[in-house]
Amino acid sequence: MVSRPRRITDVPRSSASVPSALAAALVLTACSGGVHGTPGAAGVRDPYFPKAGNGGYDVTHYGLTLSYDPDGRDLTGSAEITARATKNLSAFHLDLKGLDVKSVTVEGREASWNRAGQELTVRPHDDLDRGETFRATVRYSGSPETITDPDGSKEGWLHTADGALALGEPTGSMAWFPGNHHPSDKASYDIAVTVPEGLRAVSNGELRSETTRQGRSTFRWHTAEPMASYVAMVAIGAFDIRRSTTKSGLPVYVAVDPGQAKASAEVLAKLPGIMEWEAYNFGPYPFASTGAVVDQGDDVGYALETQNRPVFPGAPDTATLVHELAHQWYGDSVTPRSWRDMWLNEGFATYAEWLYEEDHGGDTAQETFDALYRGDYYDDASAGEAVWAFPPAKPTSAAHISDSPVYERGAMVIHKIRRTVGDDTFYDIIQGWAAAHRHGNADTADFTAYVEKKAPDKDFSGIWKDWLYGDGKPARP
Ligand code: TRP
Ligand code: ZN
Repeated sequence: MVSRPRRITDVPRSSASVPSALAAALVLTACSGGVHGTPGAAGVRDPYFPKAGNGGYDVTHYGLTLSYDPDGRDLTGSAEITARATKNLSAFHLDLKGLDVKSVTVEGREASWNRAGQELTVRPHDDLDRGETFRATVRYSGSPETITDPDGSKEGWLHTADGALALGEPTGSMAWFPGNHHPSDKASYDIAVTVPEGLRAVSNGELRSETTRQGRSTFRWHTAEPMASYVAMVAIGAFDIRRSTTKSGLPVYVAVDPGQAKASAEVLAKLPGIMEWEAYNFGPYPFASTGAVVDQGDDVGYALETQNRPVFPGAPDTATLVHELAHQWYGDSVTPRSWRDMWLNEGFATYAEWLYEEDHGGDTAQETFDALYRGDYYDDASAGEAVWAFPPAKPTSAAHISDSPVYERGAMVIHKIRRTVGDDTFYDIIQGWAAAHRHGNADTADFTAYVEKKAPDKDFSGIWKDWLYGDGKPARP
């Protein structure tokens, strides 16, 4: 069996020196006077990306209005962020890398702000009360950056031959809009993109309108279901567009770089059927539309499970299409609580490939498992060894969250569960898991507890200890 390359690879608030009894009295009497807020945290303590995300608020909606000129590589944007304060806030952080901020308003009033690295700190005119919903608008412009991941891969704003491609996993979205860029804070989105007439802009969700005036076209996309910012996407360029519906009536929107159209056609024609197969196996599809984007960003060799519409860096193969569509359930709808829980994404999506193979006349999942365990799944012996480099639930560092222990060994964990409980309970578990955390977040401990609850008479302790958390190759398959 041959492997396919998945990847090419506090703002201090001046504390007035009031005696504490008096300070307490002020807090009690002046709650709406705005003296009691403290700054939100600059990160959510992700074990792998400590600066990612921000504390003190929860975003409910992003309204992004973008205008892009590929010739000048010039982006002008406005991000209207609706959020709820989770504590009394005197200031809060947004993540934004590069670009020039022109202005920030909160609840319609000019706010003061400053920048340090990827942190944009906003101090609203008035403190925000815990539980309050507020609106912050950031106006910005500039040439967005391509970001290099800890593992060397490229994301953020990527140039293409005829436009641009914005991809976000794990930290790329801060290159094109300010936000709470951590998977734990999901929100709905409206993304409007204006581009020179003749080009198109494709994004997540459903296309609400498409208008052209004075030589520029605007595409308005709407995502009602919660979306993590790392799976938000914009693709700008010339595209062949195919719209259809699946047998169950789900709208399909496929955009293909014209240069890849011929090579992509055969596999993309399988998309509606794969969607039906996945809904049958994983449960009801969690979103209102599906599709795909085929577009080549400079130096990008990976596919990404961008919500509704995964992106492929060229004509996809069937396994990769199955993989990215499976992520819609496992990753996009049920989203990891932190980047440590990546194997819940990649183990499931990889196992989806094995199941698809098994159901379509190829190797059984057991055969794939056995080949990996023996070490002859890969042509290259060192790739076979790499599967055992670290346990799926504990990647060595941020540079390794997309290595094969997260993918293949993660899938092996899922297979071990299937072997322990049998097929009936197994499908109950994978469908029930997707239903239980639909549109939410979950971590590894949630998953192991869920599995144990679904099969109380079985013992999973060895699987967790040796396969999920244990170092090295487990003794017996
Ligand atoms: N999630 C992608 C996939 O499975 C691969 C990927 C792209 C990735 N960028 C990443 C994984 C960054 C981890 C981190 O197809
Ligand atoms: Zn994946």
